[in-house]
Amino acid sequence: MEIDPKKLRFVNNLALTTLGILMLLGAGLVWGAFTQTSQIGKYSEISSIDDSGITETKPPYKGEGKALFQNNCQRCHLIDRPMTGPALANVTDRWSDSTNLYHWIKNSQSFLQTGDKYANALFKKYNNSIMPAFPNLTDAEIKEILNYIEY
Ligand code: HEC
Repeated sequence: MEIDPKKLRFVNNLALTTLGILMLLGAGLVWGAFTQTSQIGKYSEISSIDDSGITETKPPYKGEGKALFQNNCQRCHLIDRPMTGPALANVTDRWSDSTNLYHWIKNSQSFLQTGDKYANALFKKYNNSIMPAFPNLTDAEIKEILNYIEY
């Protein structure tokens, strides 16, 4: 059987074109996968910045505890680091009995008289500096202050 050279060229061209299209598709897939992974890279970078808290901002505190803290406590206490008095972050974890904590804040000197070991050790650690009494603060106000500290 004789093969028509025209037909042969046609089949050849068809094969080459198909191959070309397949290669283009392949290249497209590879490129797509590449750009997608670089996007994932970008997003994970951003979320790791979020995790470290750099871009995270808390809305401003609205309760009255903030002003009470600023007016009564801030000349000696910061929340995140010690000053004249200890840093107050997580203070409610250190005082498992909240009655004791309220007693301390109202009158630390009278609370020391109970012989409480933790409080007396703290008093010593701070060179016996006396935290003033706050007999005018109500329990509700102390709660507000603690809420602000824990915010
Ligand atoms: C004149 C300084 C001064 C002021 C004002 C003051 N404190 Fe203190 N506070 C201290 C010192 C000093 C200590 C460490 C113990 C000590 O020496 O009596 C302390 C300890 C504490 C502790 C125990 C901390 C811990 O780590 O367990 C709490 C709670 C506390 N203060 C709350 C308050 C609150 C709430 C106010 C405001 C209503 C306040 N303080 C105002 C000086 C002060």
